[in-house]
Amino acid sequence: MAVIPVAIAGAPYEVRIEAGVLARAGEHCRPFIRKNHVLVITDHNVAAKWRQTATESFASVGIRSEWLVLPAGESTKSWDHLAQVIDWLLDQEVERKDKIIALGGGVIGDLTGFAASIVKRGCGFIQIPTTLLAQVDSSVGGKTAINTRAGKNLVGAFHQPALVLADPLALNTLPLRDVRAGYAEVVKYGLIDNAAFFEWCEANGAKLLAGDQAAREYAIAHSVAAKARIVAADEKETAGVRALLNLGHTFGHALEAETGFSERLLHGEGVALGMVLAARFSARQGLMTGQDAERVAAHIGTVGLPASLPALALNCDGRRLADHMLHDKKMDAGTLPFLLMRGIGQTFLATDTDLNEIAAFLDEELART
Ligand code: GLY
Repeated sequence: MAVIPVAIAGAPYEVRIEAGVLARAGEHCRPFIRKNHVLVITDHNVAAKWRQTATESFASVGIRSEWLVLPAGESTKSWDHLAQVIDWLLDQEVERKDKIIALGGGVIGDLTGFAASIVKRGCGFIQIPTTLLAQVDSSVGGKTAINTRAGKNLVGAFHQPALVLADPLALNTLPLRDVRAGYAEVVKYGLIDNAAFFEWCEANGAKLLAGDQAAREYAIAHSVAAKARIVAADEKETAGVRALLNLGHTFGHALEAETGFSERLLHGEGVALGMVLAARFSARQGLMTGQDAERVAAHIGTVGLPASLPALALNCDGRRLADHMLHDKKMDAGTLPFLLMRGIGQTFLATDTDLNEIAAFLDEELART
């Protein structure tokens, strides 16, 4: 088992990564649970696959589990479902020192974490992420949120879990498209500050996506360790360090907005193409070599993720995509910080990027043949 400490001041915790850890959730959670019952929040898809396993695991250590099973999908990260979760937690007489279990992907983790942060002014929670994206990114670091009509993740809180259990076996029951979308966030850690890990991705990405367990465990542990270092250095994203985790997200978010935050483009797919665009824009600005930018595009494309704008068959121009960025929650007094690259593994935060330049660049990318 890989155990990655997340050294947040005042709220340290561990991420435990191992094949089969979900079936042993009871014994891992037992020390965190003071009662003989626990509250579990999940969605219908995850419940169909894992409810019985988790229930039996909790029962094996004398814990009865009470379940709230929500609809699967991004639309569950809403005010209405937040209210449903809160009412249910209060009906169940949740107490501040309890640890609610979030069993599922990013939607369940973000919604449960946010509910935990506000119910009774804050109680504890444990993340058991079941998607690659949640295992390598959203379950670690304490960002929680819901979506509102103004956009995604605009209402939320920083609220750290007490424990994270990541089981690579959970990925075996997911559609390949979902695993691939999560893999974009794995590649991100190489591009941010670790060229050797990007090389590992080039050599092992296809194997990982084909189901190789050792490659999956290595990638999850490496990614979580990278994320843990970053969030320990800058928990609330105020020191320009955690912002590095947003590589590819500003372009990606604009693409998600243009495609209606729909199945047309999954978040991880938007991030994948966003990282390619960040690399190509960096090359256009003379910051990194065109050769390095195309190396990024080649790896993203080789593993089957979108690597160029025409692949999305959009019906818009660069200005329209750039305008989506004006609603980005990272806007700061009229400027939008961008994550750009000086090379593979050399991402930095640029604060002087001109959105007109971005729009012109996106027009060129839309016309790419
Ligand atoms: N997913 C970006 C972050 O946790 O900061």
